[in-house]
Amino acid sequence: MFRDHARQASLKKVTTRHDEGPVALSGRTVRLREFTLADLDGVRRIVGDDRVTHFLSFTTRNDEQARELLHTIVERSRERPRSEYYLAITPREPADPADHDRAVGFTRLRRTNEHSGRLVYAVAYAHQGRGYAGDAVRTVLDFAFGTLGLHRVTAAVGPDNRAGLALVKRLGFTREGVLRDHVHTNGAWRDSVLFSMLAPEWRPTQEA
Ligand SMILES: CC(C)(COP(=O)(O)OP(=O)(O)OC[C@H]1O[C@@H](n2cnc3c(N)ncnc32)[C@H](O)[C@@H]1OP(=O)(O)O)[C@@H](O)C(=O)NCCC(=O)NCCS
Repeated sequence: MFRDHARQASLKKVTTRHDEGPVALSGRTVRLREFTLADLDGVRRIVGDDRVTHFLSFTTRNDEQARELLHTIVERSRERPRSEYYLAITPREPADPADHDRAVGFTRLRRTNEHSGRLVYAVAYAHQGRGYAGDAVRTVLDFAFGTLGLHRVTAAVGPDNRAGLALVKRLGFTREGVLRDHVHTNGAWRDSVLFSMLAPEWRPTQEA
């Protein structure tokens, strides 16, 4: 609790160019928008699937836990100043019209201090391999370095997470080192490889 208050107080000092209204971002193949309570089905398909959570820092959530998570995400999205941007990835042109505006993944950008943020990303198993995560992360980095004015964004990826590693490497993140026993997930401790991107290194999407 104290830590939360301390973090909120430190964020109050931040001057941000973001007007703090709901976030809606457009990439080439995906849109990123705020989660709503209507996204439960999509959230379940992401955090309720071992094939996705195996590479995240928590174990698979059951339906009730997925509902609680969604409530927390929506509540936190209303906090001001804002310390977390947990955004739904939705396909711009879904192969199946039923997927229009469906949350098929998420990006979570958590501000760790005035200048830095930590990024986590995931896509539902059925929607992987279509370039959605790469486009979503690129779009969020534009937002982080452009709109929010952050200086440093990190991502911690499991050493055997081939898709997660390919993504940060492709986007030009720098490998910093190994975080030993960084997360306890699926019953075991797991290392992470820490990657970072700094604002001067980031080439905004319009220029790419
Ligand atoms: C990592 C993850 C988000 C990628 O989602 P995605 O939408 O399939 O990703 P993309 O289609 O944008 O592909 C990203 C890169 O991974 C590569 N990739 C995709 N699936 C792969 C696989 N099974 N093995 C190796 N590489 C793979 C792609 O070729 C691409 O690399 P490239 O840009 O050099 O071509 C998805 O696999 C996932 O949700 N995993 C579980 C959660 C997770 O690992 N999050 C990352 C840690 S925070």
